[in-house]
Amino acid sequence: MFEVRDRDGLARIGVLETAHGPVATPTLAPVVNPNRPIIPPKDLAVRFGAQILITNAYILGKSLDRDAIVRDGIHRFLGFPGAVMTDSGAFQSHVYGDVDVTNAEVIAFQKAIQADLGTMLDVFSEPGHAYDRASADVDETVRRAHEAVSLRGDMALVGAVQGGLHPDLRERCARSVSSLDVAVCAIGGVVPLLETYRFRDLVRVIIASKKGLDPSKPVHLFGAGHPLVFPLATLLGCDLFDSASYAKYARDGRMLFADGTRRAADVRESSCLCPVCTAHPMEKIAAEETLLAEHNLHACFGAIREVRQAIAEGDLWGLAERRARAHPALLDAVRELRRHNEFLEEFEPVSRPGALTYVGAETAHRPILHRFRRRLQERYSAPLAKGLLVFPEGGRPFGERLAAVVDQVARVADVHFVVKSVWGPVPLELDQVWPMCQTIVPEALDLEALEAAEVFFREWAAGAGFPFGILWEGETTLDDLRARAPGGRAIDWNALRIRATADLQFGRGAADALFAGAISYVISRNTGKVRNVLADGEHVVSLRAADGLFTLKAAGARRLAQAFPLPRLRIVVDEDSVPFHREGKNVFAKFVREADPEIRPGDEALVVSPEDELCAVARATMNGREMRAFKRGVAAHVREGVPRGPSAPRR
Ligand code: GUN
Ligand code: ZN
Repeated sequence: MFEVRDRDGLARIGVLETAHGPVATPTLAPVVNPNRPIIPPKDLAVRFGAQILITNAYILGKSLDRDAIVRDGIHRFLGFPGAVMTDSGAFQSHVYGDVDVTNAEVIAFQKAIQADLGTMLDVFSEPGHAYDRASADVDETVRRAHEAVSLRGDMALVGAVQGGLHPDLRERCARSVSSLDVAVCAIGGVVPLLETYRFRDLVRVIIASKKGLDPSKPVHLFGAGHPLVFPLATLLGCDLFDSASYAKYARDGRMLFADGTRRAADVRESSCLCPVCTAHPMEKIAAEETLLAEHNLHACFGAIREVRQAIAEGDLWGLAERRARAHPALLDAVRELRRHNEFLEEFEPVSRPGALTYVGAETAHRPILHRFRRRLQERYSAPLAKGLLVFPEGGRPFGERLAAVVDQVARVADVHFVVKSVWGPVPLELDQVWPMCQTIVPEALDLEALEAAEVFFREWAAGAGFPFGILWEGETTLDDLRARAPGGRAIDWNALRIRATADLQFGRGAADALFAGAISYVISRNTGKVRNVLADGEHVVSLRAADGLFTLKAAGARRLAQAFPLPRLRIVVDEDSVPFHREGKNVFAKFVREADPEIRPGDEALVVSPEDELCAVARATMNGREMRAFKRGVAAHVREGVPRGPSAPRR
């Protein structure tokens, strides 16, 4: 069973339960070559903290020790107390062209040696396999997955995803395999990509596979063990890695670092603070394969810890973008991500703690910013005005920086206000929405970022419906504005802000529904900003200072429920759990029947009965797709139960 404890987009911090204890993910399963264990398995657990290792059932099955391994079990044979995953020989078929073992045989052997996680014998799809060949690989892999499931007994199974570089085949294979009774889904066939630094293809393969995979299952990336790829691969939802790189590179006299690989002979001073590098002079390390292997493993686990910390901080995108500077092929891979924003956005939380920090021109293409621009086009309606006044990027919050000018202009001209920010257009009334206000950008922007900002702006402005747009260049612009948009404008900024925010957050029409009637505000005495909004005396929403978005109150939820039909904004729960939510108990994924596919992690959602009676207002921790898939964990935190009342519709 896999439980997710924390997340950042598709990346998650989770726990995989095995027959030999829990495995905290993301993590690396070091490869133990039974013929050449350079670091004793016991040390992997004791000195490196490895909770899982991977070894090869195909090789074990051919070993002279075969009988002893079957008799004692793999754990005793290796002397490893944690979880043991075994691989099947599919990789050997890639290396040698074929293996003389069947799927059924290798499953039986893995059961016999008591592997915690046994792997089916998949068909290794080479990146060069044309469509028909790769399609046949998938057919056979899926057939064997079914067979493996029927034979697994009580051994937890690893199901493999193949399909070469063909996205639809990857997705099909992933969907078929992950719908079966497998504990872990593994993306295979990627070693040739890793070996040749084809990271852009790797991104395409992982994303295509993730589209088909059941999101509630942990995902292993076969053969990925270089620290360079951990940030990117976890960012795309991989939870487990395995690799022999630490040992292979050591044999070649090479050292792994988070930013790449170096020949040990070329390393005059190691920047690493691992026990090996702090205890021995470089000449000694370079001369001893075991020390190199130990350093390499420390580097790998260090990189994993760095990734976990980044997930916890909500900064994995930043880490991946920064790491991409280590190799141009990695930069290409990060630049590929924007082409998959449609999918990545689904998993993107509504906001994150702290500020969004500019790393490079790629940053503007992150899913959170893609979402803002997309919603601006689809959900936002600009107020009527004779024209548009455009301000340049600069100090934030924009509203505060520009307050005096805006006042001055509004007295003489009838225009609306927007900032041409590096992330795209930001109508002034939305300047508090995360991350538009909470952003750190350099003062001097690079050309690519500026050009992108220009394109984002034009894409929006073309559809925004203003007869003209004009750039603020100082006092002289005032004369232009007087001439082209004569007449002042009385602006109710609070009203503009809450209406735009509501539509952006809940969908077009939400402002009309939430704010029908006489509107009044509770204003924060500290900040002077709107805190609560009341409509006809009912508290409908509160505005959060941290991310500029609304917290929904029961009265607001009722209004949205009337305005938007099922399944919009809804989490539909089992009849039996309804009374619990009415009392304020959280929504467990297990009891979710249906959920709006548009729900994102962190979204405000309406918890309803199968008859669409509102029973609670909650904050989602998962997206709609995940809520339906997970059988474990909290899908949404209820913040307000709604008692059954006369206002609840009954049928
Ligand atoms: N090890 C590296 N790549 C693969 C793969 O595609 N399948 C299996 N089973 N093991 C692997
Ligand atoms: Zn070191």
